[in-house]
Amino acid sequence: MNTELTERQQRELDYHREHAKEHQRILSAPFAWDVLNKPERRWWNAYWQMYAYLLTCDLKDKQVLVVGCGFGDDALRLSKLGAKVSAFDLSPDSLQIAKALATREGLTIDFQEMPAERMRYTDSSFDYVLARDILHHVDIALTMKEIHRVAKPDALFIVNEIYSHSITDKIRHCALVEKILYPRLRKLIYGPGKPYITEVERKLSEMDLKETTKPLREPEFFKHFNFIATRLLPDRLEFFAKLDRLLLRALYPMGSWLAGRVLFSARIQK
Ligand SMILES: C[S@@+](CC[C@H](N)C(=O)[O-])C[C@H]1O[C@@H](n2cnc3c(N)ncnc32)[C@H](O)[C@@H]1O
Repeated sequence: MNTELTERQQRELDYHREHAKEHQRILSAPFAWDVLNKPERRWWNAYWQMYAYLLTCDLKDKQVLVVGCGFGDDALRLSKLGAKVSAFDLSPDSLQIAKALATREGLTIDFQEMPAERMRYTDSSFDYVLARDILHHVDIALTMKEIHRVAKPDALFIVNEIYSHSITDKIRHCALVEKILYPRLRKLIYGPGKPYITEVERKLSEMDLKETTKPLREPEFFKHFNFIATRLLPDRLEFFAKLDRLLLRALYPMGSWLAGRVLFSARIQK
């Protein structure tokens, strides 16, 4: 065991060692550029909406940091858009896949292995920082301190994270849902195989969101996604995903209680 890692980080590392082993096939599949190239913008899907937003940003030759980059999907896509990308992850096994994909696609990306809570970048290095599905794996206060340190003043911080208000989360974990509903719906929501959920990850709560936005100016862009989708129904069923997004829009004032995902961008105040 690496004694410099916390227990949580070590468990993430162990989980992702196996996860990377199970995903070696990624290396022989074509890389998906569709989110950059397809004119449709899938208004009901947070990931497509994140790129709809990123495509409006001036990324050419900008220093961009991808926090907890996993297999490098966003690092590659942002590099393709002309950004100078630095990306890091705790997992050397995930990074190995990310590096191999970047080499195969002819992209130069500075990949490094480090924990989000203890970055090695120098102060005020980045114009953009992207955090997708990573904040719920880390110590948010320490990570935000680091993001604040390595970002340039007024750098744009883009976040796309799973979220659940603590009250909604209590409902999710009540006996009826936990013991009866969820086991029956799990396969439908996540498909066959074991869902990609680590033991130590925790959905962002409204308190975590408050901590995350502490060093930020007013959001330039903020959207809620996934009310029933990803909780009771899979988001791959397009009709339901659209209906779900429309429902959340109609219930807009209650979004922070109901949503299962947040997507926002805001400038970092220094
Ligand atoms: C759900 S994946 C998201 C990966 C990528 N952002 C994406 O959306 O495809 C979570 C990633 O966080 C990494 N991770 C977990 N804890 C971390 C930490 N403390 N510091 C850096 N990366 C961490 C894992 O190795 C994993 O690659």
